[in-house]
Amino acid sequence: MNILVTGGAGYIGSHTCVALLEAGHTVIIADNLCNSKAETIDKIKEIVNQTSNENIDNQITFYKIDVTNEEAMGAIFTNHKIDGVIHFAGLKAVGESVEKPLEYYYNNIVSTMFLAKACGKYGVKKFVFSSSATVYGDNTVPFVETMKLLPTTNPYGETKAMSERILTDVVKANPDLSVALLRYFNPVGAHTSGLIGEAPNGVPNNLMPYVTQVAKGKLKQLRVFGNDYPTEDGTGVRDYIHVVDLADGHVVALDKLESGLHIYNLGTGKGTSVLQLVKAFEEANGIEVPYEIVDRRSGDIASCYADASKANDELGWIAKRGIVEMCRDAWRFEKNYKE
Ligand code: NAD
Ligand code: UFG
Repeated sequence: MNILVTGGAGYIGSHTCVALLEAGHTVIIADNLCNSKAETIDKIKEIVNQTSNENIDNQITFYKIDVTNEEAMGAIFTNHKIDGVIHFAGLKAVGESVEKPLEYYYNNIVSTMFLAKACGKYGVKKFVFSSSATVYGDNTVPFVETMKLLPTTNPYGETKAMSERILTDVVKANPDLSVALLRYFNPVGAHTSGLIGEAPNGVPNNLMPYVTQVAKGKLKQLRVFGNDYPTEDGTGVRDYIHVVDLADGHVVALDKLESGLHIYNLGTGKGTSVLQLVKAFEEANGIEVPYEIVDRRSGDIASCYADASKANDELGWIAKRGIVEMCRDAWRFEKNYKE
């Protein structure tokens, strides 16, 4: 299939492009590079060409383009016969979304609306959307797809909840379109080649890139946000999922997508605390990660992990990689990465 991947130069998008190409699909990437680099496209080609019998360079096309530019995006739909869209493009920094709500609403909502509209106009049948566990709010763990969603705590989370509602209504109005809302838990790790991975701009907000940068000596020590949560060791519990497992989940969802709206949690179903992750990282890589306990971070919840059984039952997908692989692969990428 010809798959339009918005945000395909980004962290999850680049790993998904590798998985799509390896599965024999053709990818058309639309990314404005606001949080990624053009070199990533070459790295995707390099990874896939290493294992493929034939050169895949002509199975990947890159457009440096803003997804909210409806006219320019229309040209992509005209030039390529798009069979499916995976919509990763979006702004994702929770703290920044509180400071710049309009940028977040505009970028994340308008892009989803334009793409859904283009699917109707150009007869595209499959749409896969990057949602997030954040839409569950502070629910009781494990989070199940059938749960009533609770309010989100920041504009970023709200853009995901709103996009989900928009796409739900679009499917009702356009029964030819199938939509998968994929709710990711906490993606970490990197491709085993060490060529692509998570390289946030500035000081990382998320735990794993912070840990790898402390390990590298780029940052002095980790700040653990609170050790008085009602969890096993008092630190926040999350469902960390290897980005390659997450990428595979997209390929399966796209292949198996049937008409209508389908919601899937993509997580491992296992919770890991901040201190357990630090310990796992130290053991996996033989490196010490100094840390201090500081106050809770505003907006954080105690525990967030998935009931991942629906994706397993309906798609046959399951996360295969454990926390040790996540830590090892994240560190390999960090060591290799040059700014
Ligand atoms: P990322 O920032 O690495 O990738 C997003 C990509 O989209 C970047 O390459 C960026 O340049 C591009 N982009 C942003 N706005 C654009 C626009 N208007 N036009 C064209 N390109 C644009 O982020 P990621 O971690 O790969 O996340 C991908 C998606 O998954 C996002 O929608 C994010 O909200 C969602 N998500 C991420 C996480 C996470 O923890 N990483 C968790 C849940 C959901
Ligand atoms: N944490 C620290 N120190 C840090 C960073 C994080 O102790 O420097 C802790 C947090 O308090 C939390 C855990 O590590 O307990 C994970 O925090 P992250 O910032 O890595 O991830 P979040 O769970 O807060 O949020 C992430 C994405 C969201 C997405 C959500 C989905 O940032 O965009 O996962 O589950 F919505």
